[in-house]
Amino acid sequence: MPKTVFITGVAGFIGSRVAEKLLARGDKVIGIDNMNDYYPVSLKKARLERIQHPNLRFELCDIADYEKLRDTIRREPPTHVCHLAAQAGVRYSLENPFIYQKTNVEGFLNLLEIMREFEPENFVYASSSSVYGKNKKTPFSVEDNVDMPISLYAATKKTSELFAHVYHHLYGMKTTGLRFFTVYGPWGRPDMACYKFALLIMQGKPIPLFNNGDMYRDFTYIDDIVSGVLASIDTPFDYEIFNLGNSKTEKLMSFVELIEKYLGREARKDMLPMQPGDVHKTSANIDKSRKLLGFQPQTGIKEGLKHFFDWFRDYHSDMF
Ligand SMILES: NC(=O)c1ccc[n+]([C@@H]2O[C@H](COP(=O)([O-])OP(=O)(O)OC[C@H]3O[C@@H](n4cnc5c(N)ncnc54)[C@H](O)[C@@H]3O)[C@@H](O)[C@H]2O)c1
Repeated sequence: MPKTVFITGVAGFIGSRVAEKLLARGDKVIGIDNMNDYYPVSLKKARLERIQHPNLRFELCDIADYEKLRDTIRREPPTHVCHLAAQAGVRYSLENPFIYQKTNVEGFLNLLEIMREFEPENFVYASSSSVYGKNKKTPFSVEDNVDMPISLYAATKKTSELFAHVYHHLYGMKTTGLRFFTVYGPWGRPDMACYKFALLIMQGKPIPLFNNGDMYRDFTYIDDIVSGVLASIDTPFDYEIFNLGNSKTEKLMSFVELIEKYLGREARKDMLPMQPGDVHKTSANIDKSRKLLGFQPQTGIKEGLKHFFDWFRDYHSDMF
């Protein structure tokens, strides 16, 4: 039975790929996005253009606008929700704290309140590995305590998990939170390391390496993330949280070397102190995701970066 999936943040990196996969398998997608200019709107528009499909309905809508959001949902109540819209970024949250409250907290609450009325079969939402904050124990497990976030962004993601628990407890809403670990791949986000470094290297500008480059990240390829999101949409749980990560942590400096290799250019490196709010290492324990979602990452860093650079050379052909 085809589903009608309401996707927030459908013009985003992950949302557009989730929509594409759902449409390809025969589901209907109602997608919303406010098309904000946190990064180039042209990229968001290009993503939307490539996923055009008779079964996709797109609405320009801000999740912080309760009335418009409710009206959009009321016109065609979905069977499933995939909530990905958020204000992301750690550094940006130091400079613009209120937008995190508006979108990630108020927007999330709006959506929960409206969905309570329309009773979807499943409500899946994006959390983040950043909730682990200063957690010293690696790999990060969903059993670990996450009461000490170190950025406002992380605090809003943890808030989402708490709100979801309340709505499950009070109203029986089925909710699943997905803690994504540093997602990369074609059509990615220009504020994140992979894409950001590629752009800076091509412009001959230095790349910022925080903590003098002594950082580790569990880089996860977009299609692996999307398989996990689809498995979650298809498998309603009462209230669950899952890690979606590759579960193989890379040294940031080895990651930079690979980028240099793919671009055939050496990066100028700006060695900087640790960035406030940032974490030293991320690493996902995905045992529970494997067991309950059948989540199994398929794409290693070399293959994933190859896919990214194939796309990057094409999308930014003017730079080559
Ligand atoms: N990409 C990652 O590595 C990563 C890691 C952890 C968590 N996440 C989470 O996954 C989700 C998707 O991330 P992404 O990488 O695709 O980011 P993205 O910024 O590319 O996508 C988010 C989309 O939401 C839209 N949006 C923002 N505020 C909105 C609002 N108020 N109303 C409507 N739309 C709004 C944006 O315009 C954007 O298109 C986010 O919730 C993010 O916090 C991403």
